[in-house]
Amino acid sequence: MLFNPSVITRIQVTCLKHTNYRTMKNTLLALFVLLIIIALSSQPLLGSADESSPSNEQVVDITGKKLRANTYYNVLLTMPYTNCRSPEGLSLSSIHNNNSNNTIGNGDDQIQACPLDVVVVNRYQSTPLRFTPHNPKKGVIRVSSDLNIMFPPNASCPYHSTVWKLDQELLVITTDGFVGNHGSPQSIGNWFKIEKYAEAYKFVYCPSVVNCISCNKHDVQCKSVGLFVDHYGNRRLALSDVPFQVKFVKA
Ligand SMILES: *[C@@H]1O[C@H](CO)[C@@H](O)[C@H](O)[C@H]1NC(C)=O
Repeated sequence: MLFNPSVITRIQVTCLKHTNYRTMKNTLLALFVLLIIIALSSQPLLGSADESSPSNEQVVDITGKKLRANTYYNVLLTMPYTNCRSPEGLSLSSIHNNNSNNTIGNGDDQIQACPLDVVVVNRYQSTPLRFTPHNPKKGVIRVSSDLNIMFPPNASCPYHSTVWKLDQELLVITTDGFVGNHGSPQSIGNWFKIEKYAEAYKFVYCPSVVNCISCNKHDVQCKSVGLFVDHYGNRRLALSDVPFQVKFVKA
């Protein structure tokens, strides 16, 4: 299910707690109708569209300019259908992760230092990122096409890349992916797409891999990218039924 109305409704209720009940009821009704319209008009997540097709629209930034490959952009994130949140941004953080093999020490000292993870931060603390399409000859970024997404190198983890990678177990976005090698099973976690969503965009994990016999179904599931708050209160970017609405600002 692409939209989870109960979750969005809950967010909306929290936002509207200061307004009167009647307004709230009307707003919820309007919201519900809107959700149905959008759900009906949105494309299926399993990308059947030919992604090399030039008919795929180019992604634009908030000024309407086309996004270029290998140019840095700040990402503005909002929860759609709410007006009560100011946009947030993305950055890198070294966060606690007891599920990882890559841990140092034990008990409360278990800290995963590297690779860094992708976290949601105040927009004024965001780190810009850039995109490399799987066909790097074209310098343009199109919707529904496989992209590598990366932050600038970070001195905290000089031996790990800052290329986005899906943690296949936790379904959170971490780093230490690599650029290119499209179609190889090893690259499966490194490809993300930008899709149109709620008058802006969203990130999805839905790699267009055709010949990946060794990839299991779980690896190539298609899901939107939203928020996951872990046990430690870290606000991580993760696969979610409730996507972030995403806009791009040239850095
Ligand atoms: C580099 O990584 C550290 C975490 O170790 C993080 O606090 C910092 O914001 C990162 N720098 C950039 C520019 O992303």
